[in-house]
Amino acid sequence: MQLEDVYKAIVTPEFLDLEKSFMDNVKYFSDKEKHIKRAWKYAKKLNLDELPRKRILDIGTGFGYFPKICSLLGHTAEGTNLKNPLFNIVNRHMNVDACIRKMDDQRIFISGKYDIITAFQLCFHKNEGREWNAYEWEVFLRNAMDMLSKDGLLAFEVNRPRFLKEAVRGNYHYDFKGLIRIWK
Ligand SMILES: C[S@@+](CC[C@H](N)C(=O)[O-])C[C@H]1O[C@@H](n2cnc3c(N)ncnc32)[C@H](O)[C@@H]1O
Repeated sequence: MQLEDVYKAIVTPEFLDLEKSFMDNVKYFSDKEKHIKRAWKYAKKLNLDELPRKRILDIGTGFGYFPKICSLLGHTAEGTNLKNPLFNIVNRHMNVDACIRKMDDQRIFISGKYDIITAFQLCFHKNEGREWNAYEWEVFLRNAMDMLSKDGLLAFEVNRPRFLKEAVRGNYHYDFKGLIRIWK
């Protein structure tokens, strides 16, 4: 599967009709090529085009382009979102299973086991402008690791997570190049 196939599978005539039905300019619609390409890059970076079926959870999935691509690649993928009528409508339209769940106090609040947990373009490590300290990162990592299956992977991107390395070092295998990846 190539990016063009992904684009065709997502941007159907029905998707374009849905886009037209919203009066406001919504960047995830108007910049869909960019966002779909970005989600495709994450999938490639995580080798999802080569790996056997994985169970994937995408926290704060927005429109759900990433879990949609995961499903197109044969994986089982779902997401979480805040209550947002637009996101929830688009999730349903794309057949993306995304529950409304607010991550709070460093906890994701989902039960179940996943092979891969992702989070892209979220400010989840900032609380009213203050960044999580090492202890708060530890709480988040313990919660996420509990939700991962054996050898599972947590992958995300956040801007300058200053204290994350302190929480990770000596406890997990990790790679911070490009995407932050931490293995159970
Ligand atoms: C900037 S959008 C990013 C969407 C998508 N991950 C992407 O890369 O395009 C932020 C997303 O995070 C979700 N979000 C923000 N705070 C959250 C929280 N505390 N718990 C769960 N989701 C949250 C919003 O609902 C929204 O879907």
